[in-house]
Amino acid sequence: MNFDVITAFPGMFDGPLTESIVKRARERGLVQVRLHDLRHYSTDKHRRVDDVPYGGGGGMVLKPEPLFAAVDDVQMRYPSAASRTILLCPQGTPYNQQEAKRLLACERLILICGHYEGVDERVGQHLVDESISIGDYVLTGGEIPAMVLIDSLTRLVPGALGDDEAPSRDSFYTTGLDHPHYTRPAEFRGLKVPDVLLSGHHEQIEAWRRDQAASATTRKRPDLLKPRARGRAEAGDH
Ligand SMILES: C[S@@+](CC[C@H](N)C(=O)[O-])C[C@H]1O[C@@H](n2cnc3c(N)ncnc32)[C@H](O)[C@@H]1O
Repeated sequence: MNFDVITAFPGMFDGPLTESIVKRARERGLVQVRLHDLRHYSTDKHRRVDDVPYGGGGGMVLKPEPLFAAVDDVQMRYPSAASRTILLCPQGTPYNQQEAKRLLACERLILICGHYEGVDERVGQHLVDESISIGDYVLTGGEIPAMVLIDSLTRLVPGALGDDEAPSRDSFYTTGLDHPHYTRPAEFRGLKVPDVLLSGHHEQIEAWRRDQAASATTRKRPDLLKPRARGRAEAGDH
């Protein structure tokens, strides 16, 4: 899977892309992440990519020209049949594991990171295929949300984890939460690992895990057991 990230702050990606599973997946060619510095697409002599908002008020807004130019350039240099262009935006479709599975079908994602007060509305209306939010809170920029998409999608790419079945055992892959996990020692500060996990009875262990997962879901996230209140259609595309 390929990611083309358009950002005014490419340095923000250094750590998360160069450690752990994402690092290994990149080294093995399972995913490719190309960072495109938005400032390279500015025609302004000071490489400015933002301007004051029409109508007044505080904050700066990312200008449309460099963003449209960056997407055009990426599409020309790295053509891809199954590509989607996504604006990271707190007003977008809420991101979750089902959305991750949907996006996994894409060969390439172009991820646009907003910053400052936001992005000129024409970008959301006319440049992108969809907008995605990683939650109901506001971050400084779309860089961390883009990394959230890259990380969560990389885990789902076959071969990225040691065990391709692992994601299907994680929370949210279907509807519920994962079961609890324990490792050695069997007793720590008087806290014991449940006996069944030490028993060697695989059927009993599987039954215990199913029960624990079901009760964790009921206790911690009963909302997951209800029909989804808010789907893509209701949230709209932008
Ligand atoms: C400070 S935010 C702008 C918030 C905007 N004024 C609003 O209230 O909707 C700057 C940029 O960060 C990104 N961003 C912030 N929170 C986000 C979230 N929850 N999900 C996705 N992107 C987010 C977007 O790219 C956004 O354009």
